[in-house]
Amino acid sequence: MKILVTGGTGYIGSHTVVELIKSNHQVVIVDNLYNSNINVLDRIEKLTGVRPLFYQVDILDYENLEKVFKENAIEAVIHFAGLKAVGESVSIPLRYYENNISGSINLYKLMEKYHVYKLVFSSSATVYGDNFAVPFKEEYGLGDTTNPYGTTKKFNEIILTDLCKANENMSCVLLRYFNPIGSHESGMLGEVPNGIPNNLVPYIAKVASGELDHLRVYGDDYDTKDGTGIRDYIHVVDLAIAHVKAIEYCNKLEGVDVINIGSGKGYSVLEVLHAYEKACGHKLPYKIYPRRPGDIATCYADIEKAKRVLGFEVKYDIDKMCEDSYRFTIMNPEGIK
Ligand code: NAD
Ligand code: UFG
Repeated sequence: MKILVTGGTGYIGSHTVVELIKSNHQVVIVDNLYNSNINVLDRIEKLTGVRPLFYQVDILDYENLEKVFKENAIEAVIHFAGLKAVGESVSIPLRYYENNISGSINLYKLMEKYHVYKLVFSSSATVYGDNFAVPFKEEYGLGDTTNPYGTTKKFNEIILTDLCKANENMSCVLLRYFNPIGSHESGMLGEVPNGIPNNLVPYIAKVASGELDHLRVYGDDYDTKDGTGIRDYIHVVDLAIAHVKAIEYCNKLEGVDVINIGSGKGYSVLEVLHAYEKACGHKLPYKIYPRRPGDIATCYADIEKAKRVLGFEVKYDIDKMCEDSYRFTIMNPEGIK
C-alpha cells in the first residue's frame, strides 16, 4: 500500500517506516521537524535501501498538506504527528489542543476529500486515566484524563469513532500504546529528548552516559512489589511491527477498533534501573524523591485482543530494550544530527 506517515521522522514513526518498507509498503512522510531531524531519512535509507518521499509540512497548514494528497495516491494513513510532553501540555494547553486536535482534523478532512479511508491513530494508555483496575482492557472505554495531552488523545478517539459512524467506508484502528522504549538494534534510530528527559528510560540513559548524576525515583511508597511505580514497557521495534499489522488489518475492518499495544507485563522503576545497569555494565546511582503529581501506581495492558485480532505479540524483553537504548545513547552522543 502507499501509506502516508505523519510524524514519520519522529521516534516511533521512524521505526515504523523501517518496518513498513521491510514489508514492501511505499511510504510518504509528512513532518514539520519540530521534534525530529531530517538526517533520520539518511538513516532509514541506510537501513532499508529505500529513501521515503518526504514533505516538510505542518499538519496545521491545510493547503500544503493538501498538496501531499494531490501529488500522491495515498491509500492509508498512520498518524503519529503530535506534541507529547505531559507537563508542557499543562502549561500551554491551547498549543496542544491546536496541534493535536486542529491539526488532526485537517488531516481527517483531507482523507475524506481524497477518499482515503484507512487510518491507524497513535493513542495512549493515558486515556484510561486512573479509573480502572489493571490490566487495562479495551472494553473499559475512556477514563478521566489528567492532563491536556491525554485529553487530546481522548478527543481524537471520540472524533474518529464519530467519523467511522458517519462514513461507512472508514476503517480506523486506535492503538493505545503503553510505554515504548528502546531503539533500533543498529543504533541508528532512537529517541532524542529535548533537554532534561521527563520519561524514565531516556533519563536513565543520561545517567548511564554520565550526563546526569543520578536517577530521581519518584516515590517508593506505592502499593507495588518494591514501592516504586509499575509500567508496561514495550520495545519500539515491537510497537513498529504492531503498526504494520494494524494498517493491514484496516483492509478487513469495518468501522473503528481500539487495541492495546503493550507487553502485558509490569516492571517497577527499580527493576528497569537494574536491567539498565546490566546493559551498561556499571551501577547507576539513584535517590528517592516524592511521588510525581498525576502518576498512578500501576499500569499494564491486557494484550489478549492484540493477539487475537492482529496476531501481535512482543518479541523483545526488558533486557533487550535496555541494551538497545544504551547502544543508541553511546553511538549518538549528540542525538541524530
Ligand atoms: P516524536 O515527538 O518523536 O514524534 C512526533 C513527530 O511529529 C515529530 O517528528 C514531530 O516533529 C512531528 N510533529 C509534531 N507536530 C507536528 C505538526 N503539527 N505537523 C507535522 N509534524 C508534527 O514522538 P513519538 O514518541 O514518536 O510519538 C508519536 C506519537 O505517539 C505521538 O502522537 C505521541 O503522542 C504518541 N504516543 C507516544 C508515546 C511515547 O511514550 N513515546 C506513548 C503514547 C502515545
Ligand atoms: N519515573 C521516575 N523518574 C523519572 C521519570 C519517571 O521515577 O525521572 C517513574 C514514574 O514515576 C513512573 C515510571 O517511572 O512510575 C514511568 O514514567 P514515564 O514518565 O517514563 O512514563 P509514564 O507512564 O508516566 O507516561 C508515559 C508517557 C505518556 C503516556 C503514558 C501512558 O510519557 O505520554 O506513558 O502511555 F501517556
